[in-house]
Amino acid sequence: MSPDLPPEEVAIGPDATESVALGAALVVFGATGDLAHRKLYPALASMAAKGQLPYRLVVVGVARTEMDDDDFTAEVHRTIDKAAPDHAPGWADALDRRHVQFRYVPGSIDDPEAFEQLRAVLAEADQDLGAAGNRLYYLATIPQFFATAAKGLSDAGLAEEQPGSFRRIIVEKPFGHDLPSAIALNDELHRYFAEHQIYRIDHYLAKETVQNILALRFTNAIFEPLWNRRYVDHVQITVAEELGVEHRGTFYEKAGALRDIVQNHVMQVLALTAMEPSASFAADPVRDEKVKLLRSVRPFDPDRLVRDVVRGQYDAGESAGIEVPGYRDEEGVAPDSTTATYLAMRFEIDNWRWAGVPFYIRTGKRLAKRVTEVTLRYHAVPYLPLPHGAADSIEPNELVLRIQPDEGITLHFAAKVPGSPFRVRTVPLVFSYKEAFDEDPPEAYERVLLDAFLGDATLFIREDEVLESWRIVQPLIDAFGRGEVPLARYPAGSWGPEEADELMHDSDDTWRCL
Ligand code: BG6
Repeated sequence: MSPDLPPEEVAIGPDATESVALGAALVVFGATGDLAHRKLYPALASMAAKGQLPYRLVVVGVARTEMDDDDFTAEVHRTIDKAAPDHAPGWADALDRRHVQFRYVPGSIDDPEAFEQLRAVLAEADQDLGAAGNRLYYLATIPQFFATAAKGLSDAGLAEEQPGSFRRIIVEKPFGHDLPSAIALNDELHRYFAEHQIYRIDHYLAKETVQNILALRFTNAIFEPLWNRRYVDHVQITVAEELGVEHRGTFYEKAGALRDIVQNHVMQVLALTAMEPSASFAADPVRDEKVKLLRSVRPFDPDRLVRDVVRGQYDAGESAGIEVPGYRDEEGVAPDSTTATYLAMRFEIDNWRWAGVPFYIRTGKRLAKRVTEVTLRYHAVPYLPLPHGAADSIEPNELVLRIQPDEGITLHFAAKVPGSPFRVRTVPLVFSYKEAFDEDPPEAYERVLLDAFLGDATLFIREDEVLESWRIVQPLIDAFGRGEVPLARYPAGSWGPEEADELMHDSDDTWRCL
């Protein structure tokens, strides 16, 4: 820590006990793209305002558009100005205070000349701007360029870590498009970067409420004893989106809900919900337990796929009071597309904790509202000591982890209705993040960048995790490709195809009404 700086200027992290190297360079590949503009630059502004950036940060944009350092600086400032004025007050001064500088390298990722230029810019950043040899390479590009960028960095001598400084590479999703391509991408990245240098993002892990699954389960005495097959009837995970595919039709056609949401976000939420306690919340103990859990997910039975998996695609309908087109009429989408925009499925987990407890998941675009939740539904009581009619409206207990947007937790339990005769009804016990804590939770990308600067890989996906989750979904990719699971239809703005109710065919279970 530099002696001439007040501690708040160099310490980052909520309690100022974590600190980042004083200087660093953040190299953004895809610097003019959507992700950089929507997420990364606003996150930098917000982090600067909170004093969470390395002191002396050089942001180096790399993209094909021709522009110079001043144009790039102006472009980033414009973006931040539009995106972040409310939650990052005083961001411009904050960037200045932390000596944040912007540099720009025009060029294509497959052009070695661009990397030579990058090398020169980074050398200048180290020597004159205090970047201290620390580098975070952010691949905010299309996935086809991930391996090319890694190779380009390595060929230019920019990948290998030097003593006393770090070189980390952040890889966005999708990480491969199936199991073989994910294996190939891992192998390729490992040719140039060691595993400890690779930070694979799943922005769901950076959500406070997703991290809170660990806190709830493993820092309280009252929940964990009830978190198993003896008490839990089944688990539901819902990731519902109100939006359609927006301007990402071409990408989504190839991804569909399986690759876009299930293989990554849903698998991560499932792993945190179902894993065994880890020895600590540090990166490897947590990731070891997640991998163990993912390995216990029972492979899909090809003969039961039609019973265990429902695919759907949205038709035209009404979303938030507005008429919206069907998926096949979206820009970039084939008029006869069979891509699933909705998936519901039933998982089994083969271990002692969860044997016989179905995990139902559902996700979709253009559903009735945006909501992500995990629900543990408990067994019904074995016997109700009440006369007929006195307990008509009680439901089995439910613990609902409200991931977004109304972040919190709700426990549904039965209570006596005041007055006589003696009747009971299910009531909610509600915890709300907003009411309990004063601060707004940081944006997921702030957390991602902060942890990458700090070198804390807990919220990033390890190689074996990514492969395990592809292993789980690969039989579905194959079966969908062979057209073995029919495509149901649902109107935009609904709760998805009716066929999803059939998933629970061999029980009395129902999807939670949201
Ligand atoms: C992204 C998907 O990973 O997650 C998008 O590519 C999806 O299609 C988004 O909309 C959902 O993220 P969030 O944070 O809004 O739930």
